[in-house]
Amino acid sequence: MKGVYSDILITDIHLRERIQEMGEMITKDYKDERPVMIGALKGCFIFMADLVRAINLPVTVDFMEISSYENEKESSGIVKILKDVKYSIQGKHVLLVEDIIDTGLTLNHVIDHLKLQKPASIKIVSLLVKAEKHKMKYPIDYFGFEIEDRFVVGYGLDYQGYYRNLECVAVIEE
Ligand code: IMP
Ligand code: MG
Repeated sequence: MKGVYSDILITDIHLRERIQEMGEMITKDYKDERPVMIGALKGCFIFMADLVRAINLPVTVDFMEISSYENEKESSGIVKILKDVKYSIQGKHVLLVEDIIDTGLTLNHVIDHLKLQKPASIKIVSLLVKAEKHKMKYPIDYFGFEIEDRFVVGYGLDYQGYYRNLECVAVIEE
């Protein structure tokens, strides 16, 4: 897929290094626990696959699929849960895994929803965070990289369904 994106923002080598560090942090923080990792599809699928292998703990995985309805330029905060978790998270330590946090409105809704099941704790893991815009009402516990407010693709992130299979994170051509 050469020539379809303008700038490589984060190389595959940097992604690998940073995810290894994140995995080590999580392993340390959750020592003696058995956390449930819940991935937000579809963007999380590559990050999640690498992150779980960087964690040296007995983890389980589950997935949700969420659609954000676009309201002009920004996500409106009206989100629909297309697929909910399969297994009960009551009393469990949950790590919610996202590809990117833009406004954060999607995650606010998802966490409100998951809290109804009364997990022991919920922490957020996001590979990327757009620093200037996030409206999260919950703290972002672990993130890989803070990026400028530009539209990025690759490593699971898409533009109109494409580019998820790029090994790096790249900025899409205007
Ligand atoms: P939020 O509710 O504004 O935080 O939207 C988060 C969701 O929007 C992410 O999970 C992505 O699916 C999508 N998104 C936001 N920014 C980008 C981007 O730069 N590239 C690809 N998807 C993005
Ligand atoms: Mg997403």
